[in-house]
Amino acid sequence: MKKVGSQVTIAIDGPAGSGKSTVARRVAEKLGLLYLDSGAMYRAVTLLAIQDGLTADSPELIERVKACRIEFADNGRTILLNTEDVSVDIRTPPVNRRVADIAKIPEIRHEIVKHQQRIGAEGRIIAEGRDLTTIVFPHADFKFYLDASVTERAKRRLADLEKQNVDITLAAVEAEISARDEKDKTRAHSPLRAAEDAIIVDTTDKTIDAVVDFILMHICEGEGGSR
Ligand code: C5P
Repeated sequence: MKKVGSQVTIAIDGPAGSGKSTVARRVAEKLGLLYLDSGAMYRAVTLLAIQDGLTADSPELIERVKACRIEFADNGRTILLNTEDVSVDIRTPPVNRRVADIAKIPEIRHEIVKHQQRIGAEGRIIAEGRDLTTIVFPHADFKFYLDASVTERAKRRLADLEKQNVDITLAAVEAEISARDEKDKTRAHSPLRAAEDAIIVDTTDKTIDAVVDFILMHICEGEGGSR
């Protein structure tokens, strides 16, 4: 039986809208763990590029990323880019459209992964993204891969965007996440894939509570790392 009370690393990967942020946040609250939203870090550097008028192939971009400070506050609810709260700005359509192109740059991934591993060294963490189970925390105690149909994932994202008063159709959201999935799954470095030893969870017809309970059950039973 794994002791959740001591050191534990839980890693979750999956495509956009698979439910991993909400689920990871809830599990973090229930178990008193640090929550790491790795996508927020790629979003923050994408916002930095947009603010500075830089594109994925601008030579200065990597230096700008190396020099910037990304910090979390309020257990992952707030993200600070060079001390400025960018929690809302990183979730806008221009960032959604460009983040996968910035996130595929190996030097940028290298910087961000180092930062994530430093955060993870604290030892009581649940982290989610695209390469947490494969690259960032390959020795995590528990690994999960969350997935759902693209239409269901688009509906979830649309509901989030509507809360932010973003005017966009379901078809446009579906097209955007499909394009992003394709880039994330086919890039040369750290593509999105399920780790061999990850437990795969299809969340299409499941409530958030059901997925949270499933994950908690595995953790409490110490069954992570096996299918
Ligand atoms: O999880 P979220 O949708 O916020 O991630 C935004 C984007 O950041 C992803 O589509 C992907 O391009 C990139 N990302 C990544 N590796 C991670 C987390 C996110 O490449 N670990």
